[in-house]
Amino acid sequence: MADPAPQPHLFVVLGATGNLMQRKLLPVLYSLSARGQWPKGSLVVGVARRALDDAGFRELAASSLRVAKVGPNETIGAFCESVLSYHRLEGESQASFEGLRNHLEQLEHAHNLPGNRILYLALPLDAFTPTLEGIGQAALNHGPGWTRVVLEKPFGRDLASAQALNQLLGRYFQESQIFRIDHYLGKETVQNLLVFRFANMFVESVWNREHIEQVEITVAEQIGVEDRAEYYETAGALRDMIQNHVTQLLTLVAMEPPATREADSIRNEKVKVLQSAVPIRPEDVVRGQYTAGASGGRGVPGYRQEPGIPPNSVTETFVALRLKLDNWRWKNVPFFLRTGKRLPAKSTNVIVTFKAPPVSIFQTEQAYEVNPDRITILVQPQEGFELAFEVKVPGREPRAQTHRMKFHYADVFGPLPDGYETLLVDVMLGDPTHFVRADEVEASWRLYAPILEHPPPLVFYPAGSEGPPEAHRLAEEWGHRWYAD
Ligand code: BG6
Repeated sequence: MADPAPQPHLFVVLGATGNLMQRKLLPVLYSLSARGQWPKGSLVVGVARRALDDAGFRELAASSLRVAKVGPNETIGAFCESVLSYHRLEGESQASFEGLRNHLEQLEHAHNLPGNRILYLALPLDAFTPTLEGIGQAALNHGPGWTRVVLEKPFGRDLASAQALNQLLGRYFQESQIFRIDHYLGKETVQNLLVFRFANMFVESVWNREHIEQVEITVAEQIGVEDRAEYYETAGALRDMIQNHVTQLLTLVAMEPPATREADSIRNEKVKVLQSAVPIRPEDVVRGQYTAGASGGRGVPGYRQEPGIPPNSVTETFVALRLKLDNWRWKNVPFFLRTGKRLPAKSTNVIVTFKAPPVSIFQTEQAYEVNPDRITILVQPQEGFELAFEVKVPGREPRAQTHRMKFHYADVFGPLPDGYETLLVDVMLGDPTHFVRADEVEASWRLYAPILEHPPPLVFYPAGSEGPPEAHRLAEEWGHRWYAD
């Protein structure tokens, strides 16, 4: 159960000199604080290996905040001065973590804080295990108040490593203390999926195999690998996007109505979706990698020519796959999932295509196409949903044309908050609804295990194209097609 209001705490970031802290967490903490939404008296403790003192860390943070243009320089300076401090972790020994614990206790004592702590692991995967061991051995898993641990993705790199990580976490923390982040769950449009489906009778009554022909989920990115070669080479699109973000979208689209709005009620239903998936075979998957091409009007290198990428890399930057859910609601309805980098534009959406009417009286006199009705849930950059349906074109001829009825968040509510902002407040409140539970993360790795073990051969697509044409085969072989551009 969530607390009514966030309580003052120490927000301890392990990996505080890294990208995530500098580019995402700091700007969010600054904005919450500037709007008075961060509990007064709370402090940020940056923890990392780098030899810095408080002043050096504040300087680093202030320059990141200035780059992010979050506010005037004086306000940024005042925020850094009053809220941030730094602790250098010399290594991963028990003594180092005991040093950290002493530091936190001293801060809490000096600032009269109640001992609530958020331990945010903004670290690469291989640092999770020694860090969690250190935290446990130094008894940092329980403080004088509540303690919560936040883990960034990737949560493991396959089923076995995710299970090992869950076991280690379970040794030191209760599940209610653990917050596994998937930042897609912080996006308003993703959270809206529950409201859209379960607050609208007209939606839920047709959301099943009787009425739905197919579901497709696309998470397209225009960017390439950027400066993340080291990480991306250990991941690839299946681990980086499909196993987490795309699968989360799938569970929210396909789940049964939860009994209540409680976190576990919702998460139980999400797990059942994954448990009902028919095992995916290598022939259900297309793995692609971008070659040189054009993006945003300029020539861009292929993946293998990107800095830090081996010239013979077989890491995929694109995945398309098909699957079915063997349950009462979805039996025989195909789900098509895809994601890729260096596609023409950034676009995340879910397209639900309805079955054609059983008899079409309008196709008798002359041949013209009646398109199936579609609901498109727009996750980003456009946010909202659209309903595509047929209307009569005025005139004597009984001619139909597809029309789109649109709801865009920006038109009604203005800009939406960053997903991280929503999730950090949830952690402060102790609300795990929009975080991934242990069994959920394992079920999702289990689903993709056959592909990770037997990856299908790589195919290639030029940067800026729609992705490998082989992706069409997945839909066509099952008598379907992709609708998204
Ligand atoms: C991250 C992936 O989790 O999500 C990145 O590691 C990807 O590779 C990013 O670019 C996409 O997030 P968003 O919110 O921009 O769709």
